[in-house]
Amino acid sequence: MSKTTQTITLAILKPDTMKSGNAGSVINMLEDAGFKIRASKVLKLRQGEAGAFYSVHRERPFFESLVQFMTSGPCMPLALEHERAVPYLREVIGATDPSEAAEGTIRALYAESKERNAIHASDSDVNAQLELGFFFNRLELVAEA
Ligand code: CMP
Repeated sequence: MSKTTQTITLAILKPDTMKSGNAGSVINMLEDAGFKIRASKVLKLRQGEAGAFYSVHRERPFFESLVQFMTSGPCMPLALEHERAVPYLREVIGATDPSEAAEGTIRALYAESKERNAIHASDSDVNAQLELGFFFNRLELVAEA
């Protein structure tokens, strides 16, 4: 029998989720979906850090507001493991805009708006590696159970 290949992606429980007390519920949903938590921490991003993390959106009209929001309180980066972790997590969290997010997804349940949308997920394997490296060092990432 062939062994399935597990991959890791980055999620961030955003400040809206931390403030509203929904972090536990969101983590439950992630675990119920089959993700294994391989690293986690709680931290408050500074302006420069949030700007660097979202630098791909630097020219977008929502950039300043996004940085403001992401620095408004603690957030919780998580390293999550699953088969095809990147696309699967994006499926579980739903569309960026909660009004377009499929029923039962994390954003449909917990996001307030396109900006305050509860959770971030990496959009490709390359970006997952970059984003995991932004928050976690080698020692903090548990390779396997
Ligand atoms: P995230 O998945 O973290 O990736 C980029 C973030 O920018 C996104 O979630 C939203 O929080 C935010 N964002 C994307 N598009 C918009 C928009 N049109 N207006 C406001 N915020 C946005």
